[in-house]
Parts: sequence; C-alpha cells; structure tokens
Amino acid sequence: MKAVLIRKHGGPEVLEIADLPRPKAEPGQVVIQVKAAGMNHLDTWVRRGMPGVSLPLPMIPGSDASGIVAEVGAGVSGLATGERVFVSPGTSCGRCDACLSGQEPLCKDYRMIGEHQNGTQAEFVALPAANLLPLPASLSFEEGAAFPLVFLTAWHMLVARAGVRLGDDVLVHAAGSGVGSAAVQIARLHGARVLATVGSPAKADKARALGADETIEYKTKDFLEEVRRLTGKRGVDIVFDSIGQETWEKNLKVLARGGRLVNCGATSGYQCMTDIRYLFSKGLSILGSTLGSRAELLRLARLMGERRLRPVIDRVLPLEKVAEGHRAMADRALFGKVVLTP
Ligand SMILES: NC(=O)c1ccc[n+]([C@@H]2O[C@H](COP(=O)([O-])OP(=O)(O)OC[C@H]3O[C@@H](n4cnc5c(N)ncnc54)[C@H](OP(=O)(O)O)[C@@H]3O)[C@@H](O)[C@H]2O)c1
Ligand SMILES: [Zn+2]
Repeated sequence: MKAVLIRKHGGPEVLEIADLPRPKAEPGQVVIQVKAAGMNHLDTWVRRGMPGVSLPLPMIPGSDASGIVAEVGAGVSGLATGERVFVSPGTSCGRCDACLSGQEPLCKDYRMIGEHQNGTQAEFVALPAANLLPLPASLSFEEGAAFPLVFLTAWHMLVARAGVRLGDDVLVHAAGSGVGSAAVQIARLHGARVLATVGSPAKADKARALGADETIEYKTKDFLEEVRRLTGKRGVDIVFDSIGQETWEKNLKVLARGGRLVNCGATSGYQCMTDIRYLFSKGLSILGSTLGSRAELLRLARLMGERRLRPVIDRVLPLEKVAEGHRAMADRALFGKVVLTP
C-alpha cells in the first residue's frame, strides 16, 4: 500500500511516499481503508522532531482519518466490513481512573496516532476497535477527516476547561488555525461573543463568515489595545491560545477580572514569562488542555452531522502532495485544514 513515511527528521523534503505491506487486523483491531486523512500542525512537529522527545522512526504520520472498515480482527464486536467510520486520534489504557472518568488524555498510557504509533496517511491503517466511531451519514469522508483532532481539542479547552458561558467575551487567537477555526464556532454555539485574531485581511473575512463578531489583524494592530477598545476596557472572559510565547504576556493583561486563559500549544515557542501580579490581583486561572474524551468526540460528531458545527477545509490534496500541505502550513497560508486523499 501507499503511505507517507518519515524515516528521519527534517524539512518537507524528508517526506517520502513509500510502498509498504498492508497492515493486518490483530485481535481487537480493525483495518480501515482510508478515504481521507487530515493533516495537523502535529505532523510538522513529527517531521521536524521535538526538543527532548524521541519518536519511533520510521513513522507514518497522521492522526485524523475517515474511511471504510476493510477487516475486523478477532474479538471485535459492533463493527462490520463496509461501515463508514472516522478515527478517534488517541489511544489509552481504558482501565485507569482517568480513562474511566472520561479524562483519557490524562491516562499515563495516552498515545497519539501518528506520533507514538503509525498514523493515518496511508491507504490502510490498523487501529484498536475503540478508536473507530461511526461517521454521520451527512458528512463526506473529507469532512470526517477534517474535524476530529482540532474540534475535540477546542471543545475540551472551551467547554470542559474554561467553562464558556452565555454572554462571555472570548478572544480566539489564530482563527485560521485548525484549532482556532473550531474554537470560533464552539464559542458562538455557547452564546459567547467572539473576538478573533488573524494574520491577514483575507483571513479576517473568513473568520467573520465562520461566526467571529470582531476580527483583529494583529500584525498591524496591537491585540491588547484592540480588545480593550472593543470591550470598553473590561477585557475578555476567556483567552483561547495555541500560540504560546508571542502572545502569553499580553494574554494575562487582556483578561477581565476572574478570566480564564486556556492553552493547548506552543506554535511560537514554549518559554513564557508570567507576571504573577496579574494572576493574583485579577483572580485569573491558567488552564492547560490536551485533546479530549471519546464521549466529547461523539457529541461533536452529532453536532457536525446536524450541521450545527462545520469542518473547515482549506484544501484537499492527493496523498502524493503531502509536502505541499507541510509547506502551506509553514507559510501560514491556510485557513482551516488540509485533507489528503490516498
Ligand atoms: N495539545 C493538544 O491537544 C493540541 C491539539 C491540537 C493542536 N495543538 C497545537 O496547537 C497549535 C495549532 O495547531 P493547528 O493544527 O491548529 O495549527 P495550524 O492549523 O497550522 O495553524 C497555525 C496558525 O497559527 C498562527 N500563528 C501565530 N503565530 C505563529 C507563529 N509564530 N508561527 C506559526 N504560526 C503562527 C498562523 O496563523 P496567522 O498567520 O493567521 O496568525 C498559523 O496559520 C500547534 O502548536 C499544535 O501543536 C495542540
Ligand atoms: Zn488509562
């Protein structure tokens, strides 16, 4: 079968299209024929390598996918060949208190598909049966591969961690990012007013079309001053951040009293300065977040199926053009997701 393969870390040129043996379904596993595989910023970390993290190479990247059940392993019930499914992007032990209380990403055995084990950017992938969920009939395969990881992350950040409420003001950084384009919609669905930062006028138009009430082009305007102006100096109740270093210090200043800063990433760097005077004097909360539970993913699939939330796809590329997806991501040229079709 055809698969994207990373044998060593480096630039987009290390991405190889390899011919590999088709995986077989081990007991408890299911093989799916991948119809569409989503790309995430994580793919670029896996390709580049992460400081202090050793990944098992060679590796097939990709955490998101949808497709058709091609083979069912021994001991699997409730899934049959031919069914349309999508992939839940993480695996965990299923037995510990974190797993049993719907906090799978806190399981000490939590592993990402496409980071710690072979991923989805291939014609076939073998996965634990628990990682395959039914794809709503109204969603295309491309849509089914575009939403899981980023919507799950944004939902858990805003709903479970930051407790977004009707009437909140929410600042979403990088509304054109995968997680940001999900956050704009999720905050709106909960009755919040969304202020969104974007890197270009074209992205501002797209963010407004998604539901952002206000957009801030942060390269030409200071987001702190703009938020103060737009909120009558009050600040926002929630800052949704995946940027890290470049936004951190102002994030604390831009929060209203009692505000919550929720973060899932360090796109611009991870060493951040926290002036704790803002923390205690304004009663702020700083919340870290990673992915979410399968229960949250099932709810998201229903909301997607009902079209109350929408996957945001920038472009669909053939698998062979995976390097183009990596380059577009590095150039910050995307609004939403790249989906690869094998
Ligand atoms: N912990 C988790 O569970 C989890 C899950 C998903 C993602 N993440 C992390 O969250 C971040 C976003 O992921 P994603 O897949 O949504 O990313 P993405 O789609 O590639 O979007 C990244 C966007 O961030 C903006 N940006 C702002 N400052 C930047 C900088 N210094 N360098 C590069 N881009 C910058 C750019 O948009 P503008 O040019 O418009 O500003 C860029 O397009 C990544 O760091 C990822 O690893 C974490
Ligand atoms: Zn566990």
